Amino acid sequence: MIGDMIRRLTLDDAQLARLHQVVLGLLDPVSLPPADVYLDSEGNEVARHVDGQVRLIHPSPWPSPASVRTDAPVVVAVPEQLPVGSLPTPDAVLLLATGGVRVDDARFVVWANAWRAVASAVVDVPFTPADAIDRADDLAAAYSSAKARIEVSTVGQPASGGRVVFFTGLSGSGKSTIARALVARLVERHAVTLLDGDVVRTHLSRGLGFSRDDRDTNIRRIGWVAAEVAKHGGVAVCAPIAPYDETRRWVRRTVEAAAGAGSFVLVWVSTPIDVCETRDVKGLYARARAGEIPGFTGIDDPYEPPADADVVIDTSTIALDDAVGAVLSAMGD
Ligand code: ADX
Repeated sequence: MIGDMIRRLTLDDAQLARLHQVVLGLLDPVSLPPADVYLDSEGNEVARHVDGQVRLIHPSPWPSPASVRTDAPVVVAVPEQLPVGSLPTPDAVLLLATGGVRVDDARFVVWANAWRAVASAVVDVPFTPADAIDRADDLAAAYSSAKARIEVSTVGQPASGGRVVFFTGLSGSGKSTIARALVARLVERHAVTLLDGDVVRTHLSRGLGFSRDDRDTNIRRIGWVAAEVAKHGGVAVCAPIAPYDETRRWVRRTVEAAAGAGSFVLVWVSTPIDVCETRDVKGLYARARAGEIPGFTGIDDPYEPPADADVVIDTSTIALDDAVGAVLSAMGD
């Protein structure tokens, strides 16, 4: 069947912005991953390859450089920086990078509105804010015949204040105890969401087991929810085992992409396994040793110690109050 030979490709929001750049002639088509049909992240068809050209299904929401082409100087808005005062040249055209941004990203809206407020002429361009700065000179040259781009004085946009504190460590290491004591301290000043390992597994991750795949799915779900919380200025405290380095790093990237650099704090609760096993609060180590729970972390399943922990706490040598204090100071709280 011919239908089976059509290559469909789902683009993320940043790739979708690049697709629009290709259509507007701002980017070489070879920069796009090859496919016959491109879909957005919801599975809607957005473009097709026809006769070697990328054709959009709906008209482009972005004006073409040719329709804008001006001899006024241009300003490229700087990501995460808000303009100070008005533009130095009142007739300047502001190129506002509105590509690849999610509609519920409140910090983006604040940023974009601040820039719109200072410029009389604003052109939306299909670039992510970061890409627009990387390619500012190309952008300016495409939309304007003026020689120079204008620099605008800016001030850093305040962070959303959102944070994720992610505890990792063996079962019985003391993650939940520290996490709960931390939450009790944070809740006076922040909107706090606690995503404890055992509780998550009865709701968000109900039905998942302890294979590598299932553990990864569990941690990615926790990380995704935590990133959403942080994006809106909240604090998420997570306390799963999270035994795999690669998955923890995925969570760090996801959170930092949503809530900014420094918004993710990894706390390794490094209590040695013999201490966890002696405590055996849930009686699970004894059962694992008896062969009743195969694939138990630390017994016959791996735990990869983090090399990128922001705080390391061994609960066999440090008191609970001091542990909480160490995490609060790493959070800058
Ligand atoms: S993770 O590996 O996916 O991060 P998670 O923190 O959600 O684990 O769940 C760990 C808890 O599940 C443990 O504290 C323990 O109570 C229980 N558990 C049941 N089976 C296992 C197992 N095979 N390995 C580790 N913990 C297990």
